Amino acid sequence: MKNNQQTFHLLFDISLFTGFIIAFLLDWTGVINHQWLGIAVIAGSLIHLLWHSAWVKNVLQRFAALSDKLLITFFVDVGLAFGFTGILITGLILSTWLNLPLRNYLIWFNLHIAFSIETLVVLVIKTMLHWRWIGTAIRNLFHRPALLPSPLLIALPQGQFHSSRAEK
Ligand code: HEM
Ligand code: HEM
Repeated sequence: MKNNQQTFHLLFDISLFTGFIIAFLLDWTGVINHQWLGIAVIAGSLIHLLWHSAWVKNVLQRFAALSDKLLITFFVDVGLAFGFTGILITGLILSTWLNLPLRNYLIWFNLHIAFSIETLVVLVIKTMLHWRWIGTAIRNLFHRPALLPSPLLIALPQGQFHSSRAEK
């Protein structure tokens, strides 16, 4: 992955993670902001999944021959997809947007929290699985390679600088 692309993915992943954690702080955000933030995190995760669609296609094609690590990575992502789907459905049912007359509000509320906790646990496992990638991406973010003079310029004696354009 090129450096700029890697940095972009890193910052996007950090935003997703931070948004997800803030969604647990309902007292701080209020219900309306919570709903929009939740939708934004889920929409962001879908975009993130689309970026990795080639990986998913590859894994599905070679499913029978996958290494244990790849299998775990795949099922962790399935666990996340399951959790986010549950959060979205229960969240919408509870939401002030639909304002449904729910007789069993508490059951939906507890289900919403259960899906959130399941997703949090799976997300922590996913972060551990990608720890090496995250570490490398953070290091690359802070230690960009310095712009060195071209070896050609170093090799030439002083005053003999020339470029291919000057020769024409
Ligand atoms: C808060 C949400 C999420 C965070 C913080 C997150 C984080 C990450 C990170 C750090 C990587 C590796 C680096 C990269 O290429 O971006 C990654 C890869 C990936 N993520 Fe996520 N992700 C999230 C949600 C999801 C969801 C919901 C899905 C699918 C349902 C998903 C599917 C994938 C796939 C397929 C890959 C590439 C393959 C692999 O797992 O190695 N991610 N994610
Ligand atoms: C990123 C995903 C989300 C997470 C982690 C999450 C988590 C939570 C948690 C932990 C609570 C209970 C908070 C408390 O009582 O202190 C809650 C409540 C709630 N959430 Fe979510 N949620 C997410 C997305 C959504 C979405 C997308 C919606 C709706 C569109 C939604 C609607 C609600 C509603 C209506 C409540 C109940 C508020 C109340 O009656 O007090 N959530 N959520």
